[in-house]
Amino acid sequence: MATDVKNLILLLITALTVSVISAIGIHAQKPIPEKFVEDIHSYSNPQTVRVTNVDLDWTVLFDKKVLRGTATLSIKRNGTDADAPLILDTRDLNIEKAETSNDGKNFKATTFKLGAADKILGSSLTIELPADTKFARVFYSTSPNASGLQWLEPSQTAGKKQPFMFSQAQAIHARSFIPLQDSPQVRVTYSARVRTPKNLLAVMSAEGNSQASQRIGDYSFKMSKPIPPYLIAIAVGDLEFHPLGKRTGVYTEPSMIEKSAFELADTEKMVAATEKIYGAYRWGRYDLLVLPPSFPFGGMENPMLTFATPTILAGDKSLVSLVAHELAHSWSGNLVTNATWRDFWLNEGFTTYLERRIIEAVYGKPRREMEATLGRRSLEAEMLGMEPRDQILHVDLTGRDPDEGFTGVPYEKGALFLRHLEEIVGREKFDKFVRGYFDAHAFQSITTETFVDYLNKNLLAANPKISRSEVDEWIGKSGLPKNAPKPQSDAFAKVETQVNSWLKNDITASGIKTTGWTTQEWLHFLTQLPLSIGADRMAELDKAHNLTTRGNSEIAFQWLLMSIRNKYAPANARLEEFLTTIGRRKFVRPLFEELAKTPEGIKRANEIYAKARPGYHPITQASVDTILKRKATK
Ligand code: BES
Ligand code: ZN
Repeated sequence: MATDVKNLILLLITALTVSVISAIGIHAQKPIPEKFVEDIHSYSNPQTVRVTNVDLDWTVLFDKKVLRGTATLSIKRNGTDADAPLILDTRDLNIEKAETSNDGKNFKATTFKLGAADKILGSSLTIELPADTKFARVFYSTSPNASGLQWLEPSQTAGKKQPFMFSQAQAIHARSFIPLQDSPQVRVTYSARVRTPKNLLAVMSAEGNSQASQRIGDYSFKMSKPIPPYLIAIAVGDLEFHPLGKRTGVYTEPSMIEKSAFELADTEKMVAATEKIYGAYRWGRYDLLVLPPSFPFGGMENPMLTFATPTILAGDKSLVSLVAHELAHSWSGNLVTNATWRDFWLNEGFTTYLERRIIEAVYGKPRREMEATLGRRSLEAEMLGMEPRDQILHVDLTGRDPDEGFTGVPYEKGALFLRHLEEIVGREKFDKFVRGYFDAHAFQSITTETFVDYLNKNLLAANPKISRSEVDEWIGKSGLPKNAPKPQSDAFAKVETQVNSWLKNDITASGIKTTGWTTQEWLHFLTQLPLSIGADRMAELDKAHNLTTRGNSEIAFQWLLMSIRNKYAPANARLEEFLTTIGRRKFVRPLFEELAKTPEGIKRANEIYAKARPGYHPITQASVDTILKRKATK
């Protein structure tokens, strides 16, 4: 009896100890190895050796267009192979030496091998690791042609006096300025010390950005949340800061600061609106960096510091859905991340859906419906000329560069899929589901399969109105399902009536009632016109509505595209000006594609490109090189 009681007490104590230990997170057994899926765009081996933190020490050498320094990687062995080397991704890096350490203080030289360079993937870097290695340090410098960096001459900036440098790592360009495991499923924390010329300011996608714009030429940063490598970002230039709200602000060149602060004034409201639907913003500050016009994208969701093109500065806040979009990535993309580039639609489809919800919350439903209509129309137009395999959300990128594979499909088809689910189960249930999805996968990188599994269990099981085969069609088949949502805009219906009256000559161009039209209505008007209306019709419109001289980048882009198609010569000078001052790929690529359709167009394209190319980012250069079949001149 006495022993039984003793045993029972012992058992209770053991059980209590075990539960206390597991509650505070200490496990007696080895931790379960992290699971990684195959990523065809990375050489790395996280399933055996995994990088957990990247510590950077860089000197920014503007005269050489080079970042030089060290990357110290924290290492965790993941599998059972105690001798496995560390395999990293690199592109065009000059590796000087590699060292390892088991305490982070004493480093010893180790051997390394750089693999053959692949055009899309770059070169693997294999570093031998003694069994108990905790850190690997690589001494290296970047190439002046690093695909993820752009070095601007002072003449390419707004201020014209100081040079500028910025990074753009998505999708697989982080490897061109950091040797690391460049797969979005290998989340890392990072820290950095950056030395620059004294009169310039460095900013990063991390804590440490100085709002006081003190220039000391020596800056330190820390990102303490695990992020995918494509979110590591840096910019250096003559930057100033302007606060927008209590946790929001904007960095840009001094001459752009006022215009930027005006345009982005609603940012704080957007953060609050997003939090209300999807839960707390988890990154501390939300700042934006407005870059020089060669920035190749509209925006890039670098954590804590969205990078943005200056082409959103329309003067009337009409293009700020880009801010809503990049902000939304703080939940969809940065918090819950695509595991591989096949799963990119999880980032962009969710983000486009969230973007529209933020627009609705801040600017109202009519604006949301206009933007959703433009989105669906542009997707339909784009899909007409697209191979079926590219119209699939869960796209197959085998043998392809993710930079070239990206289309409107992951964005707009992805957003329509989510809107379809919302329409069927109702907003309240769907919002709860999405919020739960973000919480359940916070700081994780997941595949499409994981999402579908979560969807089945947490939404569809209780909602028999959506079948599994319907979900499979959305995710695995080309084109749009028949019952895909159709956004409705009354304002757009009125625009269409006017388009038709003008086309039928019931009204003249000056008779089109455009008073009060927003940018979105102008865009709908232009995109509703038939592809070829002829140069005379173009002239009528231009005379009545001054389209060639519009400063709004989206309207100018549509008009210039139409001008090429319709051989409208009075817009020629504006086209050349546009293409030689703006490097945003979304604008530049279609304009060169349109030019390349005719022999005279090709001639003009080559003349313009000779002037424009030196100012373009490597990503934009690569796209236009392909269109004009030029060999990249490195
Ligand atoms: N993350 C993307 C930009 C990106 C995608 C860079 C793939 C490299 C590879 C960003 O969030 C984005 O989608 N930007 C859009 C703007 C948005 C409003 C649709 C862009 O740059 O046009
Ligand atoms: Zn995006």
